[in-house]
Amino acid sequence: MLLLNIAQLHMAVAPSTSRLSGPAMKAAPVLTDVWMSTAADGTIEAIGPMSSLDPAMLARHEVVDARGGYVVPAFCDSHTHIVYAGTRDGEFLDKINGLSYEEIARRGGGILNSADRLHDTPEDELFRQSVERAREMMAKGTGAMEIKSGYGLTVADELKMLRVAARIREAVPARVRITFLGAHAVGRAYVGRQSEYVDMLIADMLPAVAAEGLADYVDVFCDEGFFTVDETDRILTAAARYGMLPKIHANELACSGGVQVGCRHNALSVDHLERMGDEEIEVLRHGSTVATMLPGASFFLGMPYAPARRAVDAGLTVALASDYNPGSSPSGDMRMVWALGCIKMKLTPEEALAACTVNGAAAMGLGDVAGALAPGRDASFVITRPVPSLAFIPYAYTTPWISDVYVRGRKVS
Ligand code: NIG
Ligand code: FE
Repeated sequence: MLLLNIAQLHMAVAPSTSRLSGPAMKAAPVLTDVWMSTAADGTIEAIGPMSSLDPAMLARHEVVDARGGYVVPAFCDSHTHIVYAGTRDGEFLDKINGLSYEEIARRGGGILNSADRLHDTPEDELFRQSVERAREMMAKGTGAMEIKSGYGLTVADELKMLRVAARIREAVPARVRITFLGAHAVGRAYVGRQSEYVDMLIADMLPAVAAEGLADYVDVFCDEGFFTVDETDRILTAAARYGMLPKIHANELACSGGVQVGCRHNALSVDHLERMGDEEIEVLRHGSTVATMLPGASFFLGMPYAPARRAVDAGLTVALASDYNPGSSPSGDMRMVWALGCIKMKLTPEEALAACTVNGAAAMGLGDVAGALAPGRDASFVITRPVPSLAFIPYAYTTPWISDVYVRGRKVS
């Protein structure tokens, strides 16, 4: 395919770029008045100025006219929980009536509520509901996504979830990375016996997940009221033996020590970070762990927003992701995440775009192939209607400016 008349093409990075940190986040190259061609294998073939378009190109490709729209990379949503059964709109009412996320969890709602529903839902039905969410995300511009387990909480149900995630990976053109999150909550049968649950996770769940090769990464909800730093350390140490790098939930509810333990284990990312002091920023400055922030959860739960501005100013690699899940962020809309990054976290439109694309890719180990526009990388991109500026996109955050979405060369919307 040959895409003509692109007014601006964003995130046209150099071939060696696999992430953007600190000041580089607002400085990714922008090309004006260009064409872009894609190859049959779903990658970008070439990009060049309209003024020097070789007419022979027109004959060799299916031609699409961008009509003066912008092209940005498809979003890379590095933190989702889209495999779940049913919804939790009952708890939505509890929240409206004033209960906090922790109070709902303590009453047996929250994650355990989703685990009960998942247990009662056959695998095919779980797949049907979940793949629909992946398709919805792609239609809204997402070209790569991470999917976590963590609503199973027994060996059988964690495997069921991970198999469904693997089926989604086969069913959609988007790149999918899968994370084992057995330590999302203590399963019902182990309530009050958290350390025995962790023992079981290490002895039974991890080997079973590894034997089927179902997970790329491992996650732990390391936070007040959930798993401790010591338990996290044990789980990450055990997972490393199966080659699973960590991507962990940290510092959503308290300064939990999650950032430190994650960085100690060379986590690909530490995620949430609503509670973050200078010490956490300092630790992140000295490693390559991506600081992933989830403004949709802050929006939905009325929590503070993670300090993205401070983190970028400190030179960190900041990613933004949706956290799409039934309890704290029932939306996988990355353009909303982009807008929240600007409106609530005070990132510039360019910084927030880098956070939603190449840095999200880096947080999934895909920084070399996804999240930016350059020859050889994924032909995953969003074409906009003509817009006055990049800033217009997160500014006019409900205007339907997306005209087409391509994921690895395939038109999905
Ligand atoms: O990322 N914080 C932990 N896990 C999810 C919420 C899961 C749920 O409530 O179902 C999150 O916010
Ligand atoms: Fe999450």
